[in-house]
Amino acid sequence: MTAIVAGLDLGNGYVKSNINSLVRVFPSIAVKQFNTALHTPLGDDEIGTFMNDIINQMDLSFSSPLVRSTERRLFGERALKSGLNLEEFDVYARIGKAEVDLSGVLALATIAADRLYDYYEQNKSLPASDKLKVKVDLATALPIGEYRPHAKLYRQKYLNDGMPHMVTFHNFERPVHVEILFENVYVANEGESAQYGLMFAKDAFLDMIHREAVKRFPNGELNDITGKDLVTAKNTLGIDIGEGTIDFAVFSNGKFNSDASSTMNQGYGSVLESTLSKLQEEGYPYKSRKELSELIHNAPSPFTKKKWTYVKNVNQAEENRFGDVVSSEVSKVFSRVGGFIEVIFVFGGGATPLEWSLFEKLQQRVAEFGDDNLLPIVYLDSDFSRFLNVQGLYQVAQRLRPAAKRKKQAVKA
Ligand SMILES: Nc1ncnc2c1ncn2[C@@H]1O[C@H](COP(=O)(O)OP(=O)(O)OP(=O)(O)O)[C@@H](O)[C@H]1O
Ligand SMILES: [Mg+2]
Repeated sequence: MTAIVAGLDLGNGYVKSNINSLVRVFPSIAVKQFNTALHTPLGDDEIGTFMNDIINQMDLSFSSPLVRSTERRLFGERALKSGLNLEEFDVYARIGKAEVDLSGVLALATIAADRLYDYYEQNKSLPASDKLKVKVDLATALPIGEYRPHAKLYRQKYLNDGMPHMVTFHNFERPVHVEILFENVYVANEGESAQYGLMFAKDAFLDMIHREAVKRFPNGELNDITGKDLVTAKNTLGIDIGEGTIDFAVFSNGKFNSDASSTMNQGYGSVLESTLSKLQEEGYPYKSRKELSELIHNAPSPFTKKKWTYVKNVNQAEENRFGDVVSSEVSKVFSRVGGFIEVIFVFGGGATPLEWSLFEKLQQRVAEFGDDNLLPIVYLDSDFSRFLNVQGLYQVAQRLRPAAKRKKQAVKA
């Protein structure tokens, strides 16, 4: 049976995955299909094209304790453009990631897609008759606020008492089944895993972190400090600005400090939601914050330039407002941990869009803690810092099998 190592960051906005070192990112959405009679199965000559865009084309059903609703689902661009109701993480609901179908759906779909893609790469054909099987060492995460009540049960659902989860592709003449068995599973706190991503950073990545840090301290305050110094600091505050949450992850003496860490149940998605309702009031036909996010973060065409500029402006007003909300929340966190923190990291997809409104406010707050304290704010570019959680999770996942082996040997001895 094929064995893989997987880090999965199932974000409110985007799934970030790292499977055997291959990183993927796609929107955290699906649609349920209630009418599948009209689908034509793909012909043999279309399968290569399908595989190259599998995440955006797959049509899947699931049999797993992680997924209650058994309709066939579409993903990615096909989901977004289907006109059907989107299944999204509800950033306002009380039900968290550990309880909704979407987490399981996205996790299993990502792994199944990887497995089928890999099989096709090697064989240039679909599996003849029997199922594809894969065993997985998985590290994934829950928001800090959800971890304590839900992490244990969530992990058990993946482990499923040693039984496999089943994913079925419906894109072809015959269904293709992928059987997924989770052998080792680790659930971390979001934001905690990002800190691991920083700790394990090497070479070019370390240089980048250092460059980003130094560039915001023009008076040379950080000149004697290396990238390694920053990422190995023992007492840190990580501010992970996601789409639905902002996680404040505190490390003290090099260890994740769950008492001091917290989650705020708003993220950059709140900016998008407010922009969306403004635009809808004005008669714009946008339906989801995902549609809006894709519009904003992709370069406009000559035809959409004017609309894009207008949307950007509306969005900027919301960013400014939200920058105030975040900095006042940061103030609260500071009054708890400001005394012992040595380095602050700011990262996640919302970091760069909010930087113009947020960075200065953070600096003012830090200055209140005294001038002789050098407390650098390492503000990291979203383009790569959105992936810190998944990179940390992948590092953790790679260590699961050896650790389990050591534990077994220790029990024997
Ligand atoms: N280059 C980019 N591509 C896509 N989205 C981006 C980009 N830069 C910033 N964003 C914004 O970042 C947000 C998503 O950030 P991120 O991927 O860190 O969140 P998440 O992990 O999915 O959410 P959460 O942490 O709340 O679960 C989106 O709201 C999006 O608008
Ligand atoms: Mg996130």
